[in-house]
Parts: sequence; C-alpha cells; structure tokens
Amino acid sequence: MQVDTLFSPFTIKNHTLRNRIGVAPMTRISSRQHGIPRQDVLDFLVRRARNGAALVYTEAIVTDYESAQGYPNQSRLTTQRQIDAWKKVVDDIRKAGALSIAQIFHCGRVAWPEINPAGRIIAPSALAPRQDNMLTGSPYPVPEAMSRFDIEHVVHGFAETAKGAVQAGFDGVEIHGAHGYLVSQFLSPYSNLREDGYGGSVENRFRFAHEVIQAVAQVMPKDRLLIFRISDWGIVDMDVSLFENQADYQETIRLLSGEPIDAISVSTYDFKAAAFGMNQNMARITRAATSLPILICGRIHDRASADQALADADVVLSGKSILLNPNWVEDLRSGKAMPPHKSADADVAYTETPLP
Ligand SMILES: Cc1cc2nc3c(=O)[nH]c(=O)nc-3n(C[C@H](O)[C@H](O)[C@H](O)COP(=O)(O)O)c2cc1C
Repeated sequence: MQVDTLFSPFTIKNHTLRNRIGVAPMTRISSRQHGIPRQDVLDFLVRRARNGAALVYTEAIVTDYESAQGYPNQSRLTTQRQIDAWKKVVDDIRKAGALSIAQIFHCGRVAWPEINPAGRIIAPSALAPRQDNMLTGSPYPVPEAMSRFDIEHVVHGFAETAKGAVQAGFDGVEIHGAHGYLVSQFLSPYSNLREDGYGGSVENRFRFAHEVIQAVAQVMPKDRLLIFRISDWGIVDMDVSLFENQADYQETIRLLSGEPIDAISVSTYDFKAAAFGMNQNMARITRAATSLPILICGRIHDRASADQALADADVVLSGKSILLNPNWVEDLRSGKAMPPHKSADADVAYTETPLP
C-alpha cells in the first residue's frame, strides 16, 4: 500500500504535526486598534486549524516602533493587550490540534514612511528599490545605511517581539528572512553593499541574520520552535534573483544550518520552478545543503501539486488557496479539482469583509 505522506504526521524537534499542511504567513493589514488584528482575521486562523491544518502562521508581526513597520495596520506583539489577544488565538489553535507560529518582521527599505510611527527608513545600504511602491505609486525613499547602534536596536526589537510570542504561548517563532525585507536585504548582494563586517562575503552578509537568530534563540524556551524563512525573490524588483548564484544560496543555507533553528521555510512563487538557471527547484537545492526540515510554499493548489512538493520538502504551506478556501485541507484529502489562484485573487485579504 502507498503511504499517504501528505496526511502522515511529521515531527519537528519535540512537536508533532498531524499532517504536512500549514497556513502560510499572510499580512491582512487589519490592526487598527492597539496593533491587534480584527477579530474576524483572528477567527480566520482558528477556523483553518479546526478545519485540519497542522500548522498556522500569523501574519508578519512588526518588531520595533522605530523603523520596522512597512504596511498600514500591521500587528505588534509587545504589550500585554496584544499578548492577551494572541494568547486566546494560540489556545484555540492548540485545542483544534494544530501548532501556532508567530512570524516576526522588519521591512527595512521596503518602507512606507507615512505609516511608520517614527518615519525612519533604514537598510543595510543607502539604496532604494528600483520599483515604485505599488500601493502608493510613489518611489521608495532612499534609506539610511544602518549604523552599529541601529543594528543593535533592531536585533533587540526582534528579541522583544519573540518574548511577546513566547508569553502568548506560541509553539514557535519564525524570523522573516525572505521577500527582500530587512533580514533578506542583508543576505543579498543586490541590496547589501556594505564594506564593514556585515557586507561582502556570504559569511559577512549572513552576520545580521546570525545576530537576529542568536538574540531570538536566547529568549526562546527550549521547547519552542525557531524557524527561518528564506526566498530568492523579493516583493519589489521581483525579477531579481536575490542570491548571486546557487553556490551563494547554498552557502547561506549551510550557515543557517549551523544556527539554533529547527526548520527552514523556503518561499517561492512557484515551487516547481527551476532556480538559478539550473534544472532544480528551490526545495531540492535547499535539501542538498541542509538536513533541517524544510517547509515549502508557492502555487501549491491541489492534491497533485502538494504531493509533488513533498518530494523535496517535509511540509507544504499555502497562501492563496487556503486563504480563499476554508475547506482546503479536506478538499486536498478528497482530491477535489482546484485550480491555482492569481495574485489578484488574494486582494480580498485586505478588505473589511470577513473571509469564511
Ligand atoms: C494576502 C497575502 C499576504 C501575505 N503576507 C505575507 C507575510 O506577512 N509574510 C510572508 O512571509 N509571506 C506573506 N505572503 C506570502 C505567502 O506566505 C506565500 O509565500 C505566497 O502567497 C505564495 O504561496 P501561494 O502560492 O500558496 O499563495 C502573503 C501572501 C498573501 C496572498
């Protein structure tokens, strides 16, 4: 008999997922009150746990008040009120049999000055993205290159927000190291032109991620998970490969594997796509460089694509499919025909209308 890998359990450290299906992190920009998402946005996450997902991610949670916020109405996790709001969500997700992971984020140069309380824009180097801000139509401002003081302040922000996540009871924390946001900006020679110990070689470009991981790991009890998300593409200047080549990427993965993390989440636009001009997809290229568990995301929309994605990864995450279909896990189980979604289909994520 064939093993049904998709619906078989998987253990990461001391946590067992009941199946291999998770809800990818999705920003909903609904936190108008006290940095807490709208109630229906929180309920949406709990519903996906009740409907069979094994792992539920929060949206990207902003790590400091100085410069981290990149979009309007993002959530935060440092005040007691915020911790209590998420605690209830975490408890409900756990009661439903799923694990909860808080994703923590700093936008870096992908910033929107008017919505940041301090209006400060910082990045590894004083270099703006080429593309305009698609939501405002204006160019991204040129950021200030981060000083040593900025680096320490930002690292501290990640640790403080991770503490909030621990207080709220999350099973784990994910450092957002993908999509061309701050941590990713340091990893990539496209945005990191520094000539100090944080730029140049792969190891130097990795130094900031290392400091963030170490600071977060220190505030995490041993029983919680620490995950790092990575990608070769960014939300702006999307056509650019963020790593110089496959060797540069795999060296970064090897450095990550020496850190106190429990899994790597690989974000792609399409999990099948061959990367770095070679004939292998991102998951396979990652697998060749690490023995850590791998989560994969990108255009996984039906049973066949989910099964195929597990050939080189351990857990599949869905953004759009599970956003738009609350019964996605059961529909995967029954093998229902489900087409992939276009990016524009996900715009409902930002409306006031509660999603089912
Ligand atoms: C509405 C929406 C919000 C998103 N917000 C985040 C986010 O906060 N953090 C993140 O790492 N990825 C974010 N993503 C990307 C998804 O996690 C995922 O990587 C992407 O949608 C590709 O997967 P899919 O093809 O299954 O949609 C978002 C995607 C959508 C559709």
